[in-house]
Amino acid sequence: MYRGRRLRKSESIRKLVRETIVSPHDFIYPLFLEEGLSGKAEIQSMPDVYRYGLDALEEVVASLKEAGVVSVILFGIPKNKDACGSSAYVDDGIVQKGIQTLKALDPSLYVIADVCMCEYTDHGHCGILNAYGDVENDETLPYLSKIALSYAKAGVDMIAPSDMMDGHIASLRKTLDEHGYYQLPIMAYSAKYASSFYGPFREAADSAPSFGNRKTYQMDIANSKEALREITADIEEGADIIMVKPAMAYLDIIKEASMQYSYPICAYQVSGEYSMLKMAVQQGLMQYDVIYESLLAIKRAGATMIITYFALEMAAYCRKRDI
Ligand code: PBG
Repeated sequence: MYRGRRLRKSESIRKLVRETIVSPHDFIYPLFLEEGLSGKAEIQSMPDVYRYGLDALEEVVASLKEAGVVSVILFGIPKNKDACGSSAYVDDGIVQKGIQTLKALDPSLYVIADVCMCEYTDHGHCGILNAYGDVENDETLPYLSKIALSYAKAGVDMIAPSDMMDGHIASLRKTLDEHGYYQLPIMAYSAKYASSFYGPFREAADSAPSFGNRKTYQMDIANSKEALREITADIEEGADIIMVKPAMAYLDIIKEASMQYSYPICAYQVSGEYSMLKMAVQQGLMQYDVIYESLLAIKRAGATMIITYFALEMAAYCRKRDI
C-alpha cells in the first residue's frame, strides 16, 4: 500500500520533502508615489497600503532593508493630468524623482517602474484616444517610449510596461537601445487580463477609466491560448521577463507559461487579491497563514517572482517561521 503519511510524520521530514519555498527575495513591493504629498496617506480600499510622498521614502527603504525585500515597482500619481499623460514623461515627474530618491537612499535596491498612461491621462485610459473613444495603438507607442526613456535617464533598473498595446515591447526595446540603454531589462505584462480584481488599485492610483472599460486592450478573462500568443509576441519582441496578472485566479496560465517558456515569470498578486485576503483575515474569517498559502500556490504554479502588497509583512512572517 502507498503510505504517503510516512513522509509527513514530523516537521523535519516535511521540510526535507518540501518542493516549493517562498522567500522574501521572491517579492517585489509596489509603491504608490504621490506628487506634492508630504508623509503618507491611507488608501481606503487597501488596508495597510499607503500613497507616499518623496519625504516618506527614507522610512520605506529602512523597512524594506529590515525585511530583506530587494525590489520595488513604482506607480505615480501626478498633480496634473491631460489627454496625452504628459506628466508621465517630464524630467521632474513623480516617478523620475522617486527613482532618484530611492537609488540615492539605497543603490542596491532594485527599482522597477511601471510604464503606463492611465494614471496620467485625464480620461484614465492607457493610451491616446481616437475620435471613437478607443485607444489608438500605434499613436500611443511613441508616448510609451518617451516615458520609458525618461525613467531610464532617471536611473531605473528595469521597466515594466503594463499598457497592453501591440508591438510595445519592440518599440520600447528599439528606443532604449538607440539611446544606449541596451542593458536595461524589460519585464512585459504579457498576459494581463481585463480583470475586476484591479478595483482597489484604481482607487489607490486614481486611474479608473472615466468611461468604458479596458477590454479592447487587456485580455479576455476567458482565454488561455491567447495568453500564449501574447507571451510569444513579447518574447520575440525582446522581453526579458514575462508576467501573468492577476495571479491567484490565473494559476493555470502561470503553470502553462512556466512549462512552455524558459523565461523568468513574474506573477502579480493584484490589489483585489490583496484586499480580499487582508479583510477576510481582519474579520477573523480565515487564519493569517492563508496569505502565505496564497503566495506558495503562485510559486508552486511556476512563478519565479511575485509582485505583492504583502511583501513586507510576509517577509517578516517567513523570518519568524524560519521558512
Ligand atoms: C496600469 C496598471 C493597473 C494595475 C497595474 N498597472 C491597473 C489597470 O490596468 O487597470 C493593477 C494592479 C493591481 O490591481 O494591483 N495599467
